[in-house]
Amino acid sequence: MTQVIDLGEFGDGFRRDPHPVYARLRELGPVHRVRFPARDRHHESWLVVGYEEARAALADPRLVKDGRRVGTTFLDEELIGRHLLVVDPPQHTRLRGLVTRAFTARRVEELRPRIQEITDRLLDEMLPRGRADLVESLAYPLPITVICELLGVPELDRAEFRKLSTEVVAPTSSESEYDAFSRLAEYFTELIEDKRRAGPGGDLLGDLVRTTAEDGDRLSPQELRGMAFLLLIAGHETTVNLIGNGVLALLTHPDQLAALRGDMSLLGGAVEEMLRYEGPVENATFRFAAEPLEIGGTPIAAGEAVLVGLTAAGHDGARHPDPDRFDIRRDNRGHLAFGHGIHYCLGAPLARVEARTAIRSLLERAPGLALDGGPGDWLPGMLMRGVRTLPVRW
Ligand code: HEM
Repeated sequence: MTQVIDLGEFGDGFRRDPHPVYARLRELGPVHRVRFPARDRHHESWLVVGYEEARAALADPRLVKDGRRVGTTFLDEELIGRHLLVVDPPQHTRLRGLVTRAFTARRVEELRPRIQEITDRLLDEMLPRGRADLVESLAYPLPITVICELLGVPELDRAEFRKLSTEVVAPTSSESEYDAFSRLAEYFTELIEDKRRAGPGGDLLGDLVRTTAEDGDRLSPQELRGMAFLLLIAGHETTVNLIGNGVLALLTHPDQLAALRGDMSLLGGAVEEMLRYEGPVENATFRFAAEPLEIGGTPIAAGEAVLVGLTAAGHDGARHPDPDRFDIRRDNRGHLAFGHGIHYCLGAPLARVEARTAIRSLLERAPGLALDGGPGDWLPGMLMRGVRTLPVRW
């Protein structure tokens, strides 16, 4: 009999700090059968916690994303539309091909001045106040503004959208999760209708709408809605937490903060270390065994769900020596915080530029930056790792 580890038994402590649990699991082996805290829809799954096994699983074509192949669907595809993270080749290849060009390192480099401008404006507003919630004042508004401009999403009701968006990536209950998906589905339907009416506007969603109109075979209306949803949600929920978790790591490791302040050329490496040490995505999205296979010697039956632990892999000492030490100078190449394989994060170059810009400007303009009490609650669920609020003063 396979032993099932009930993650719910670790209580709230597991949300605040899952690292000791993952460390214990890694000691026992690279792959485990786990049961999630009750609210998660997929109550049981395999969880991969070893670095090598995680990397191999992310690139294994026998682990597929289209749950329909094994009789499973997700709320986002049911209510909004299928997107990159729930499809396999050849559909995945076709969909990804439509948006790759907008997110290359070169295209993102062109956005840098605008990203700096938005950051400067946010800091202009925040700094005279002396203290603030960093999530509210910088970590959230920066990426949401950038992705909205890129997609061509007009002013939206930020507070309302934020609630719905955070609820779909870190649900507090099944009911509110369903409600958030339904309301976002309405929102995206209207948004795309508006885009269609507005005609060409030189933005990404406008381009995609035209692709549908001119060549119906290439992007169905559901795919268009799914794409808009994924880009908008993945384009900010994650980066918020890279900035939040990253600043939290710096402020709780004064020696590392001082080293970075002393030599800003360490910034690129520091952001990579933030991704490894406390990356925004705790576990990759679900994969399913299309056929029987083995991961790290553990047999997985056809149809079973597999969750690849990115946080767990980032702290595997076999790959990253002394893994619980936050060290901005370490060589952490190959970390899996952006995934690996064909679903490797499309927005990685954008996230890196945003995080580097935000953190550099914040440190330069707030020399006395410090925590102002403890961080707020850690997000619920198995997907995201981040705090709801991060009170700071300077
Ligand atoms: C620090 C910030 C970010 C992190 C840590 C992150 C992480 C990830 C990870 C781990 C995956 C793979 C999931 C899996 O294989 O199950 C992924 C995929 C993806 N990310 Fe990001 N992401 C970030 C920012 C962004 C941004 C800014 C965008 C904006 C467009 C974005 C768009 C996407 C998309 C579209 C995919 C799906 C790619 C595919 O399936 O081909 N992400 N991201």
